[in-house]
Amino acid sequence: MKVTTTIAETWGLLDAARAEGKSIGLVPTMGFLHAGHASLIKESAAENDVTLTTIFVNPLQFAADEDLSEYPRDLERDLRLCEDAGATVVLTPNVEEMYPYPILTTVSVSELSETMEGAHRPNHFAGMATVVSKLFHIGGRCRAYFGEKDYQQLAIVRRMVSDLSFPVQVVGCPIIREENGLAMSSRNTYLSIEQYAAAAVLNRALRSAAELALSGESDAQILRSHITEIIATEPLVSAPDYVAIVDAHSLKPVDRLAGDVRIILATQVGRPRLLDNIGVSISTLV
Ligand code: PAJ
Repeated sequence: MKVTTTIAETWGLLDAARAEGKSIGLVPTMGFLHAGHASLIKESAAENDVTLTTIFVNPLQFAADEDLSEYPRDLERDLRLCEDAGATVVLTPNVEEMYPYPILTTVSVSELSETMEGAHRPNHFAGMATVVSKLFHIGGRCRAYFGEKDYQQLAIVRRMVSDLSFPVQVVGCPIIREENGLAMSSRNTYLSIEQYAAAAVLNRALRSAAELALSGESDAQILRSHITEIIATEPLVSAPDYVAIVDAHSLKPVDRLAGDVRIILATQVGRPRLLDNIGVSISTLV
């Protein structure tokens, strides 16, 4: 595995690989890696000759009052995880390498970026889309792996690729969970033992709503109340910032469930905001 810190060096390695006819997989991350990230790297390593993992805590996607300076970091451990999962190149640029000048050019994906996370974190998705477009220019023609854990992010990246014709095939990967059902996240490290146990209620509530939907309840409002009530049983978990039931492709809210929908929520558990979601496919056949 090669570790690079510059874009030019990374281009050199990828150009050489492409000249040999090798396929490239790209896994963008912000580090402090866990089994969720490892699953993306493994999937890429299984489908491509070369897997480029990037580790970069992107200042553009953090608001002034968010946790940029305290975002957890452990490069040595991350590199071991990358190697074990099958990465062949890891790019770990510093902020000056990625943003040598104050940035004047940004990418924003309207509409999809305005709801759910976007409504709570105003410039977050423009910062994300801007760095991901830079990473796509670094990776060049490739498959790029993103987790369904950040479902709205995945939808925005897919739309950006389509709108701007990036030569990238986006691959969505399932959510990897802790044993208690909590979706893995670098920010789970902020949770106390009690908060970690309590946060399992998020997935329990989502699964319970999905089961209710599959047994015939199609009223989104009833399902959202059901989720909120289950979460309210855990005093350490705040009332959700939102519980959204959306069309899985357009991310438009639905009143009645039909076809592929996603139930998406975010809530505060102590310090971190935690995200989770679940997919439900309602057959229209009777
Ligand atoms: P980060 O939070 O480090 O996540 C990197 C990738 O890992 C994302 O695609 C995310 O959805 C995926 N991931 C995180 N937890 C997961 C889990 N439990 N199961 C499956 N996949 C999981 O998302 C970002 O970084 C940044 O916004 C980034 C895309 C790198 C741009 O800066």
